Amino acid sequence: MTTANAIAPAAMDQDTGYSLERRFYCDEEYYARDMERVAGRKWIVAGHVDQVRQKGDYFLFRIGGESLIVVRSDESRINAFYNVCRHRGSLICTESSGRVHRLTCAYHAWSYGLDGALLAARLMPADFAKQDNGLHRAHVRVFHGFIFVNLSDGEPVDFQTTFGDLEPYLDFHGFANAKIAHRISYPTSANWKLVVENFVECYHCTPSHPEFSSMHPADALIAFGAGPSSGPKDAVQSYLPTLQAWERRAAALGRPIGTVDDGPDSSHLRLLLQRTIREGYESETEDGQPASSLMGKRLGFDQGRMYVSFSPFTHVVATNDFAVLFQFTPRGPMNTDVDLTWLVDGKAEGYDVPKMIWGWDRTTLQDKRITENNQAGILSKRYQPGRYSQHERRVATFQQWYLRELGAPQA
Ligand code: FES
Ligand SMILES: [Fe+2]
Repeated sequence: MTTANAIAPAAMDQDTGYSLERRFYCDEEYYARDMERVAGRKWIVAGHVDQVRQKGDYFLFRIGGESLIVVRSDESRINAFYNVCRHRGSLICTESSGRVHRLTCAYHAWSYGLDGALLAARLMPADFAKQDNGLHRAHVRVFHGFIFVNLSDGEPVDFQTTFGDLEPYLDFHGFANAKIAHRISYPTSANWKLVVENFVECYHCTPSHPEFSSMHPADALIAFGAGPSSGPKDAVQSYLPTLQAWERRAAALGRPIGTVDDGPDSSHLRLLLQRTIREGYESETEDGQPASSLMGKRLGFDQGRMYVSFSPFTHVVATNDFAVLFQFTPRGPMNTDVDLTWLVDGKAEGYDVPKMIWGWDRTTLQDKRITENNQAGILSKRYQPGRYSQHERRVATFQQWYLRELGAPQA
């Protein structure tokens, strides 16, 4: 059996120019370590405030073996509780979402308030203290409409220090007041790192994604397809003048201009890139025409899009009239929940859902297929780590970040 300490030296030995050894993608023990050291310590988006507008609205967020109840306790507060009864440990909520007055366990009917306090427990001994048996809390923070949770047992990395510099961009897009237009789940039979690695490279865009590729300039996909540092360095340099010309146009329409490109020593490996889409297109749709009204504080269509990674587990892609939230949630050594949420402006009416989801629904189905094939191939005894191309630099950065997280001394 592999011990915890045996993983760190293996991690440090990994050559970052190649994909990882099979055990990182398949083994139960490595997965458990990933959950404990990486996913279990990050601020991860569980959902959007539009899912819990009314008092008592809740949804379940499942990550690894945990189930969290994310519930609106009152007008100003959203809580996240571990979905585990303080009596004998049953799940309390079993429906994936709903609206409740109290959180009542179906087993023996212990009942908790929306603030997690135990309110009723029948026939308990006289020395039983209800006040000591409230629900266990997870760290939660609402930031521009996104509900972040963190499973750390101790104090997690400071939220505002980590994400505060993203505020102008998120504010411009109006995420805090956005509403959900559509949601689709694409459960994927692959390790979470394969899902992330696929998402942070665009080497596969041309062969695998005809719809996505049709909406973007080919040279932009090579230079910046998966972020500012994802493509070959010379391609980035040659595309810069085009990017800068668009930035000047976009700034005139109110867009805050800037880039975030965290390195492997960062806590969350964040990324923010804004660039133009295909010439003549106003939105990422089949014909380039908008599917909804302008989002946020925009003064007009600027032919741009923004790609934000809050961490490898949570990404947002925003065109001018809608945005897509991507949640990649580890659920098992070779199982990852992939959930997409399409957001529109809070005041949008009459938006066209089929038009809006055309690109990312097809693209995500393609990603599910290629990622599951990747996992299946890695199970072969002939799999060995393969060399990364110059178009997969962000994958190598992710790998460096991941191995450092895995090997870093833990509190
Ligand atoms: S396990 Fe919940 S009331 Fe008994
Ligand atoms: Fe893809």
